[in-house]
Amino acid sequence: MRLQNKIAVVTGGATGIGAATAMMYAREGAKVVIADVNESDGTATVQSIEEKGGTAKFVRTDVSQEPDVAALVEAVQESFGRLDVLVTCAGILLGAAIRIDQFEADAWDKVIRVNLRGTFLCTKHAVPLMEKSGGGVIVLIASGAGVTGPSASVAYGASKGGVRGLGFTLKHQVDPLNIRVHVVCPGNLNTPLKLRAIAEIAERGGESPEAAVAAARSSLFSPEVVAKALTDLASDAGANAEDLVFTK
Ligand SMILES: NC(=O)c1ccc[n+]([C@@H]2O[C@H](COP(=O)([O-])OP(=O)(O)OC[C@H]3O[C@@H](n4cnc5c(N)ncnc54)[C@H](O)[C@@H]3O)[C@@H](O)[C@H]2O)c1
Repeated sequence: MRLQNKIAVVTGGATGIGAATAMMYAREGAKVVIADVNESDGTATVQSIEEKGGTAKFVRTDVSQEPDVAALVEAVQESFGRLDVLVTCAGILLGAAIRIDQFEADAWDKVIRVNLRGTFLCTKHAVPLMEKSGGGVIVLIASGAGVTGPSASVAYGASKGGVRGLGFTLKHQVDPLNIRVHVVCPGNLNTPLKLRAIAEIAERGGESPEAAVAAARSSLFSPEVVAKALTDLASDAGANAEDLVFTK
């Protein structure tokens, strides 16, 4: 077991990459806290971990709200007394295939608040507890979108480029605290976020969303592929990994 007795927080752990990662971390011996706004899927993921003999806890958290994030880290401290791994997986994609001159400022703000401000807040509040724990690993989930190329959504691409940018400075600041930082850019995965974006693009192009989703499914990868990479990064093996990691 590569994460035996590690305490890990996975934001956005109710579904998709976050859920797959929470389950894999628990199988590797970590105690996992799932922080998400989706209470029903979040508690279902916890239940599935517990049924397999693992330890997990759901803390309802809107990552864009600082009091929620502060309460999350307090709950981790109270329950487990330390924090070894933070994975910031919570994310949304709005406004796929909408040209910038039609893009609603409200949609822009929502995406930036969850994807960029949420990543900042979770990291801000996790660092002091990790420092007290003697160090740890922070994995920021970005994307190829906004880091190496375009996105279907101007706000989404900008937010992920921002996450990558945050990683540069964060790494420099927390390196003396024995905290490792990796920024991970997943590819195209079969998750609710991706399927919703594919459906939206099809609908805006006058095509059938159901047909577009069905056609895309075979080319999308399973979130377990990313969960595996995130498990390597959280383990001792991650010490040799690059700061910027691309996965399927
Ligand atoms: N699916 C892909 O192809 C892909 C590619 C690159 C990057 N990503 C990134 O991976 C991460 C996980 O996405 P996914 O594809 O697994 O999709 P997903 O929709 O399954 O997961 C996103 C999770 O974030 C949660 N969330 C949304 N708003 C939140 C908030 N305010 N506070 C807390 N939780 C919130 C959702 O409830 C959900 O559980 C995202 O950051 C996404 O941008 C996904």
